[in-house]
Amino acid sequence: RVPEPCALVVFGITGDLARKKLLPAVYDLANRGLLPTNFALLGFARRDWGDTEFAELARDAARAHARTQWREEVWERLAESVRFVPGSFDDDNAFDELRQVLDELEGTHGIGGNAAFYLSIPPEMFPPVLKQMQRTGMAESTPDRWRRVVVEKPFGYDLPSARALNELVDSVFGPDDVFRIDHYLGKETVQNLMALRFANTLFEPIWNGHHVDSVQITVAEDVGISGRAAFYEKTGAARDVLQNHLLQLLALTAMEEPVELSAEEIRTEKLKVLRAISLPENLATFAVRGQYEQGWLAGERVPGYRQEEGVAPDSRTETFVAVRFGVETRRWAGVPFYLRTGKRLPRRVSEIALVFKRAPHLPFAPTDTEELGNNQLVVRVQPDEGVTLKFGSKVPGSVMEVRDVSMDFLYGEKFTEASPEAYERLLLDVLLGDATLFPRNAEVEASWAAIDPLEEFWADTRPYPYRAGEWGPRAADRMLAAEGRKWRRP
Ligand code: BG6
Repeated sequence: RVPEPCALVVFGITGDLARKKLLPAVYDLANRGLLPTNFALLGFARRDWGDTEFAELARDAARAHARTQWREEVWERLAESVRFVPGSFDDDNAFDELRQVLDELEGTHGIGGNAAFYLSIPPEMFPPVLKQMQRTGMAESTPDRWRRVVVEKPFGYDLPSARALNELVDSVFGPDDVFRIDHYLGKETVQNLMALRFANTLFEPIWNGHHVDSVQITVAEDVGISGRAAFYEKTGAARDVLQNHLLQLLALTAMEEPVELSAEEIRTEKLKVLRAISLPENLATFAVRGQYEQGWLAGERVPGYRQEEGVAPDSRTETFVAVRFGVETRRWAGVPFYLRTGKRLPRRVSEIALVFKRAPHLPFAPTDTEELGNNQLVVRVQPDEGVTLKFGSKVPGSVMEVRDVSMDFLYGEKFTEASPEAYERLLLDVLLGDATLFPRNAEVEASWAAIDPLEEFWADTRPYPYRAGEWGPRAADRMLAAEGRKWRRP
């Protein structure tokens, strides 16, 4: 499906996200023929630029990061409707001009009055921008045109600030016109979780506490904070990744089957899970924060977090977090959900692992099964997207020895189609008005409600140190050992 004629307006167009993800996504969509013929791209930022300079920057960014093959003619066609509006967020004139440019584009490019506004800006900037849009009447959808807003995370800092932000956005845009981006939901393998569970008969009967011993969800990164100290210092791993990406993965893993795959039904099921989340009483053991110290990664010496430029030498911001959650529903009561994320871990890998219970009885001699672990089903979100089933098998030979083997499904081997980048998929959904892959504000608030007690507990503590290139602090291992379990080494 191709969206109706429309414009995409990006606030914060000079930022990292716009350069690395949004502009390339726009190009990729155009290249795949998924943009309407009448389409315009508008950048807004505090730069003394004209349309030409902006078009050049946009071209370079798109070319450097596009997923699809570069075709100059595709870009040239896009470039005809690229506009730049210079100005700051409190500048009435700039917003009046933006409105005027949109009106003009309606005449010259037939965009039909439809526009999506992408707030790729720090959350402190949301209020002035939203107020300007309200003042100029740009936010109003009418029966003849749609106006939508895309809000990037972090959606607030805690529950009260998230509520205030939601109220503000909802006072300016209609409830169906707000798209909160959590780019993990745009990843192919995350969507495959629904296909795996609900299109098959094999997994669903064992997808519950009768058979599942525990669930481990990991979002590990080998990179550090990549020059984002100003943002990261006041955010930390729990707010940056646990509150959103990890809890969304948990919700999709634990939710019941939706009545249909519509935005309304999927969001309703996820919300039920997020509301059912519980924290253990003993947070000192089951909620661990860490901070990386200097170490070695891929043969290179890397600095510690506190030595990164812009980070306070006595910073207590965490770069790693591991928490044991519960999901208080009939399906999951008693099953721990261990979630962890961190920077400067040995490798970049995101995965969801269901660890199954041991067989109730093993008719083997104890020495025959020394190398047999629990059965596991692992959904690998990235890289090497796919699904792995781990189970025990007899080792060839004259003795009965049972050892773990695995059965792999790899996207790269089975499909020739390359999956679209998450932002490409999500941007297209915004233009199509499909909110299925965007968390609703109640979900965002329920997620903060789960995180706030942790932040409160951590407020007076220091994160445990871990060496860059290790799987987090020892305390994270002790957390699982306390319940007789171990982290997977993906
Ligand atoms: C972002 C976080 O939301 O997700 C970053 O702000 C993190 O800190 C990134 O690096 C991870 O995304 P991906 O798609 O690279 O796994």
